[in-house]
Amino acid sequence: MCGIFGYVGKRQAAPLLIDGLKALEYRGYDSAGLYIVGAGCAKAVGQVKNLETKLGDGFSGNTGLAHTRWATHGVPSEVNSHPHSDCEQKIWLAHNGIIENYNELKEELISKGHKFVSATDTEVVAHLIEENIKSDSSFSEALLKTLKAIRGTYGLVISSVHEPEKIFVARKGSPIVLGIGEGENFVASDPSAIVPHTKRVIYLNDGEWAILTAGSYQLFDLEGTEISREPQTIEWSVEQTQKGGYDHFMMKEIVEGDNVIKNSLRGRLDEVSLEVKLPELDSVANQLKDIKRIIITSCGTALYSGMVGEYMIEELAKVPVEIEYASEFRYRSPIIEPGTMIMSITQSGETADTLAAIREAKRQGALVVSIVNTVGSTIARESDAVMFNQIGPEIGVASTKAFMSQVTLFALFTLYLGKIRGTINEEMYKKVVQEIIALPDKIKSILSRQEEIKLIADKYSRFEDFLFMGRKYTFPIAFEGALKLKEISYVHAEGYGAGEMKHGPIAMIDENFPTVALALSDAVYEKMVSNIEEIKARSGKVLAIATEGNTTLSNLADDVIYVPETIEMLEALLAVVPLQIFAYYIGVGRGYNVDKPRNLAKSVTVE
Ligand code: G6P
Repeated sequence: MCGIFGYVGKRQAAPLLIDGLKALEYRGYDSAGLYIVGAGCAKAVGQVKNLETKLGDGFSGNTGLAHTRWATHGVPSEVNSHPHSDCEQKIWLAHNGIIENYNELKEELISKGHKFVSATDTEVVAHLIEENIKSDSSFSEALLKTLKAIRGTYGLVISSVHEPEKIFVARKGSPIVLGIGEGENFVASDPSAIVPHTKRVIYLNDGEWAILTAGSYQLFDLEGTEISREPQTIEWSVEQTQKGGYDHFMMKEIVEGDNVIKNSLRGRLDEVSLEVKLPELDSVANQLKDIKRIIITSCGTALYSGMVGEYMIEELAKVPVEIEYASEFRYRSPIIEPGTMIMSITQSGETADTLAAIREAKRQGALVVSIVNTVGSTIARESDAVMFNQIGPEIGVASTKAFMSQVTLFALFTLYLGKIRGTINEEMYKKVVQEIIALPDKIKSILSRQEEIKLIADKYSRFEDFLFMGRKYTFPIAFEGALKLKEISYVHAEGYGAGEMKHGPIAMIDENFPTVALALSDAVYEKMVSNIEEIKARSGKVLAIATEGNTTLSNLADDVIYVPETIEMLEALLAVVPLQIFAYYIGVGRGYNVDKPRNLAKSVTVE
């Protein structure tokens, strides 16, 4: 997601800030900016080198902060890029995260005469500090009051002409790490930018804030009480640091799973009232009430998330759904009757076939609602309404965390649609919401079994062919599991509906053609058991994915990976995690660079 870097010391800040931003480039961003005390602010859309060119030699000063932005509120543009400031340009700050109550705060501040220039949620923080400073005696007090008033997540770095020799930082939800040097100090959103300068770091915990000067650091809690903490030494290499200590972005993104769900829910699911709110759909809510048909069209992993969405929507919102490869939809003369809505799902927002599909749908007058991870992307701009994933860019080419988020958003969308159309009863609605809230912990528990899954992957890594089979909500997961494996390990794998197995794939089964069987404790469990028996009867090896508490499958399958129980509608989110990890270890075990599989591209912008 966005990157933050700050410096206070005796050296020229500008080149250090630029290098800091370059070290964070791997995170993905669309614009960059910095503020240096005494010199001012500069911003540029696009790469950090554009900002560097803009600076020239003119930006002299020893204290400053910088930011790479990955848009969440407002399109990528200079005015929306950070740092943001107050009315008088005395306070400058960079922010990672989302301020959830920014709209109400903004309205209040506008009524008090504040003038806003950007479309961001961040700018409200600078104005609120400015407002609070009018009544508080010190900058610290005004900051503290501000931190207590804002809801959501933040990693904040702030500089102010009120106390120009200091940098203020704060954390809630978005990581902030301090780098403690000799006569100079650093701050960044992740240690990769700090490691080239010092390996002595202090990680801020949620609800902590700090003041840095060239020669000191002080940590506080939200009551203003000082906290004492010694720096720790990190031994990671710069490359390792970028990947959060993991060998590959793919694994980093898989283990982000529980947070990915939380971030996708942020601002959309009220854990107290158990209500789903999708304000981004308000403008099309009237049309959604009356739609007669939904066509979901996308590519790759995104399409498989749509297949899960199809089952959810039909089950609870009772709208007929069709699912279609975007590459086919665009060319076969699709019939789009009045009342048809098109849903596209895309991490990049730029996939050529998906874009062509929504353009065709729009040309025929359809309403287009998309699930997109990249704000400002073409598909985001051309859709009538967009649900953004809010999970930061995905770097591994094989999609993992985007899938988790896409399915989560389908669950929210289903509840939203079911409610406005009156097809879902209150009891079921609340039950699904409660199960959604419980998902992150369940995902965490699967992630804690990584070693066990690795051992199983090692056992299976000698095979050259795999069958993945599932039914109902795990039917799309059979496709996704097979796709992950072939993408990164170049092993032949086929995803199949278990019921279709007897119509072809069973002919392939022998001791060298293992099956990954998704046999969770759901309505189709007994059917899956029969299919597993059929495979075993033909000497096929079976790796089963089962629900915790199942005692039958360990006697039938060769290996079993257990996942926690959830409602059937959400089980795809748990079943897919072990398959992502399984594919990862087979790919890595074979010596491949799983982040950049051969012949594949992260964003397929050509047909
Ligand atoms: C490529 C990527 C996949 C992705 C698909 C759709 O094939 O390698 O990971 O699922 O494109 O991409 P999109 O950006 O539209 O989600």
